[in-house]
Amino acid sequence: MQNTPHTPSPETSKQLPELFQLLQPHLKALDAFLETQISEFEPEIRDHVAYSMDTGGKRIRPSLIFFSGWNSEGEIDPNLVKLAAVVETVHLATLVHDDIMDEADIRRNRATVAKKYNNATAVLLGDALFSHAVYLATQFPTTEVCRDIAISMRQVCTGEIMQTMQRGDPNLDMETYFRVIDLKTAELFRVACHLGARLAGFEDDYVKAAGAFGRHLGIAYQIYDDMTDLFSSEEKIGKTLGTDIATGKPTMPLILMRDRLPENEAKALRDTLAGNIEADVPYWLEKLREMGIFEEVRQAIFDEIHKGRNAIRPFQNNPSAAHLHTISELLWNQVAAL
Ligand code: IPE
Ligand code: IPE
Ligand code: MG
Ligand code: MG
Repeated sequence: MQNTPHTPSPETSKQLPELFQLLQPHLKALDAFLETQISEFEPEIRDHVAYSMDTGGKRIRPSLIFFSGWNSEGEIDPNLVKLAAVVETVHLATLVHDDIMDEADIRRNRATVAKKYNNATAVLLGDALFSHAVYLATQFPTTEVCRDIAISMRQVCTGEIMQTMQRGDPNLDMETYFRVIDLKTAELFRVACHLGARLAGFEDDYVKAAGAFGRHLGIAYQIYDDMTDLFSSEEKIGKTLGTDIATGKPTMPLILMRDRLPENEAKALRDTLAGNIEADVPYWLEKLREMGIFEEVRQAIFDEIHKGRNAIRPFQNNPSAAHLHTISELLWNQVAAL
């Protein structure tokens, strides 16, 4: 059913706590599996790995895997647990690297790996985590998992490289912004849903639809994350915020504002993004609110969620599709509550 923008869909939002209750044994199995992986690393770096693998994350990608591959009994499939470990480990590696580039001090409510150790250690620990994820990905009966994960990892890196090269470019356009978030975030969401459905043995059409759902949800999620970087608080989110404007990363709210401001103010924003003048964050936040940009970004997130839901709409008889739809409620509600 299509939702009216800004209104949580009442038919499913009530089911959320119940749904996440259902997921708890799966997430516990994942935690237990990840715990066993620490001793697979060389003793010299086990503390570093354990530090980066704490359970403070939201486990969004594993949840997408379990829901994409959901069977009618909701049994725990060891292959899905392993896949969840692969994707979560890739995600962890990208965070370890991302925090170096974004010069962030806090992640999951504690010091980033780069801050706790140093940048060089964080680069190599990220590489070790990537390598371990690939090693685990080879342990499936089909080479498809390893192939898809390797391609996704390359795409995430490409997105992060593009973003690094564009940093301080005050003229970045919306098309390029979407390309970057598609690569750096949506691809891992897509592959999680695609492979979850694939390993569960679902038909090809559903596997593709689940992948499309994941991709749109990933785009929506990154736009939401970029919005929280400006509008939320570090206590609430548990990581360093405000880094985007301060480090010259033009995100959707900033691009929309820049293109609508009168030239003298647009120039001031471009100079801020280029690092020529220090970012006056409260001033720009006020401008964003005044200009109604916040509402517009929120609508862009809802539009992506709609696209994702449309992809799985023909499969509503599959319990997996119903669960994926419900997980999109979580993001929808969070955005509506912002
Ligand atoms: C953070 O991802 C990086 C983005 C794609 C915005 P999450 O918000 O899923 O991070 P954790 O795993 O919960 O810490
Ligand atoms: C997401 O971008 C990083 C990756 C997808 C690797 P951000 O830089 O916005 O993520 P956070 O805000 O640091 O978690
Ligand atoms: Mg970052
Ligand atoms: Mg961010």
